[in-house]
Amino acid sequence: MTGVESGGRRAVAVRRLLAAPTVDLAAHEATHGRLPIVTRKLIDAVAASGLRGRGGAGFPVARKLAAVAGGRRPIVVANGAEGEPDSRKDAVLLTRAPHLVLDGLVAAAAAVGSRDCRVYASEAVLEPLRRALVERRMVGYREPAIELTAAAETFLAGEKSAVVNRLSGRAALPADQVVSTSRLGVGGRPTLVHNVETLAQLALIARHGPSWFRSVGAGDEPGTMLISLSGTRIAGVFEVAAGAELPEVVAGLGGTDPARVRAVLVGGWHGTWISGSALPGAALSAQGLRHLRAAPGAGVVRVLPHGECGLGVTAEITAYLAAQSAGQCGPCRHGLPTLATRFGQLVDGVGDPAELARVARLVEGRGACHHPDGTARLVRSALEVFADEVARHRHGHCVAAAPARTGDCDE
Ligand SMILES: Cc1cc2nc3c(=O)[nH]c(=O)nc-3n(C[C@H](O)[C@H](O)[C@H](O)COP(=O)(O)O)c2cc1C
Ligand code: SF4
Repeated sequence: MTGVESGGRRAVAVRRLLAAPTVDLAAHEATHGRLPIVTRKLIDAVAASGLRGRGGAGFPVARKLAAVAGGRRPIVVANGAEGEPDSRKDAVLLTRAPHLVLDGLVAAAAAVGSRDCRVYASEAVLEPLRRALVERRMVGYREPAIELTAAAETFLAGEKSAVVNRLSGRAALPADQVVSTSRLGVGGRPTLVHNVETLAQLALIARHGPSWFRSVGAGDEPGTMLISLSGTRIAGVFEVAAGAELPEVVAGLGGTDPARVRAVLVGGWHGTWISGSALPGAALSAQGLRHLRAAPGAGVVRVLPHGECGLGVTAEITAYLAAQSAGQCGPCRHGLPTLATRFGQLVDGVGDPAELARVARLVEGRGACHHPDGTARLVRSALEVFADEVARHRHGHCVAAAPARTGDCDE
């Protein structure tokens, strides 16, 4: 079950989360066994495992569990909103391994002393969860009630405070987080919000322990991670050892020669472009990307082949991100459209990259949530990695007439 497939294209793929051959409870139990009885001791095991959140920020999970444990009537939320357009890993996980996510939710609840579990995900992926809950009831699982809530289909819907707002009956918009949601969350109760993949990983740690978890992955980033790989000859969602080397991911899983890669967007639309020439030595962990001022985020790896225009792609993304601003904070409401307009001017060959960098600095750290920061990071990395294209556009040339994208297929 834990073996790294050897040889050929799948050399870097690992099967843990996606190990069960089918989605039903019988296959899930035959593959993983039943979830053992969980107590607060699970928090120590999670601390020893080194598990970090898979929702983007990579925060140590044990610290979040400890912050909520012992609070009055805490609520535990599985966040499967996946508003990031280049990410499909949560949808694939919820569709292929709903029982593992539910086990993780129940285990986290037991560890922090909660009887109130919620899953928040887009309507399209709630159906497999509904079926999974019926199966569990039919075989007599005794577990807390698990409530399902449909997430809004927006980029911001999965941001933690937006999740709390939605589950408290308000619009799914981010809010100023003066007090942490671990103290004041849904309905004013202590609330633990974890990404669905984080919870699935936690379900495996509850069964197999921290040493097993650490037997795969990098020292600073143990375990496996799900990635959404696109722009390669073969695209889809893959489970890899954390710390997998990027050239291996691109070639071994994506079937694309790294020499043909112009750039890679890691960490999604709030992430960082890295140049194709920087691929050797880059790996999918915080440490493996630090020298490039990038981070794996929620596991998005979008490849831009030579011949596609990085400026055009970034302009489209920036325009989308500007349109997704919740419009509540001035620097975000006004700054992001300005960034988008100025980036569009670069594509038209008339923009000024220094002015763009100045606006990016102005919006950073000035929102109630990290939406402006993520957008500024993307823009700044594009200005660096596609600097030669800025010059080319000024002279009326572009490496591509129209960016083309490959189709997606799951592993
Ligand atoms: C703009 C924005 C959008 C986000 N969208 C998601 C999302 O769709 N799913 C998710 O799990 N986390 C998302 N996050 C991160 C959450 O705020 C939160 O950190 C995460 O759910 C915590 O889970 P983890 O500790 O398991 O990583 C988003 C953050 C930001 C700033
Ligand atoms: S920073 Fe932007 S997206 Fe975040 S809360 Fe403020 S207006 Fe909304």
